[in-house]
Amino acid sequence: MTADPARSRLLDELWNRDHRYYELARQHVHATASSPGEYDFLRAHLPAAGDILEVGCGEGSNMEVLAAPGRRFVGCDLSALALRLARDASPADGARRFVRGEGEALPFADGTFCAVMGISLLEHLPHPEMVIAEMARVLAPDGTLLLLSPQYGGPLGASPCRRGGGAVRFLRRLLRAHLPRRGTEMGWERVAPSLLAGAAHGGDRDAVIEPELTGLVRCLSHLGLQPLVVTSGLEWATWLDSPGSLPQQLARAVCERLGRLGVRPYRNFGPLVAVAARRPRREP
Ligand SMILES: C[S@@+](CC[C@H](N)C(=O)[O-])C[C@H]1O[C@@H](n2cnc3c(N)ncnc32)[C@H](O)[C@@H]1O
Repeated sequence: MTADPARSRLLDELWNRDHRYYELARQHVHATASSPGEYDFLRAHLPAAGDILEVGCGEGSNMEVLAAPGRRFVGCDLSALALRLARDASPADGARRFVRGEGEALPFADGTFCAVMGISLLEHLPHPEMVIAEMARVLAPDGTLLLLSPQYGGPLGASPCRRGGGAVRFLRRLLRAHLPRRGTEMGWERVAPSLLAGAAHGGDRDAVIEPELTGLVRCLSHLGLQPLVVTSGLEWATWLDSPGSLPQQLARAVCERLGRLGVRPYRNFGPLVAVAARRPRREP
């Protein structure tokens, strides 16, 4: 298994141990899926039928809410507890299978799936580039990759594991968003999961990294994937965390207004990273 001390601790102390974590994840998925927005995006881009892989499937709720007669799901996760809960909640018709494995080395042959999805996964990955490359590898030509996560790494975002430094972080990220980027690295910032420091349960206190849309799109094109839809979710989602201080609220209001008008780079500053990308038949 890929070595990372924070991930090993999360697996031992949370993902392989804590039923409550998966109950909360299930509640969150069902609540979000019954509101307009994120799950409409997923439904619109998932093929109506075929073999679909979810990496980091957790307790399997995404497959529950995205189930359709022709879709055969395979859920893959590091956690034996998550897979047990997912199997227990699945019908016995064989339309959902579960395999233990890590996203950094998926236990599937090249080109196996017509769609591969990672929902609320990216923020838990110490090496997101490796996992995305693996997701692309197991995708069939013409297949669709779907990624959906909070945009903690944008100028207006921060994971719940962050404390303080809001104004400096905002200005640094705002400046960076206006500068041309070099290289192929996504450049996402790491955070220390506050759950491991004794924080109470709550959304994404097990985040290890802060996803950001522009870097993700660069990574996908480097892998030869063609973006079909790229959005920071300004058109659907509300902000995920507290409103923040007055200066933060003002900055957010101005950036959000520009973003909703479609002005670059502000349109990429919304609360989510949401991407549907296609693997072309022949790599360009
Ligand atoms: C927040 S849960 C998300 C569960 C589900 N996708 C959802 O939306 O509710 C994150 C899951 O990712 C799994 N995970 C984290 N890193 C992983 C990796 N590198 N490979 C596979 N699964 C991973 C964890 O075990 C955990 O079950």
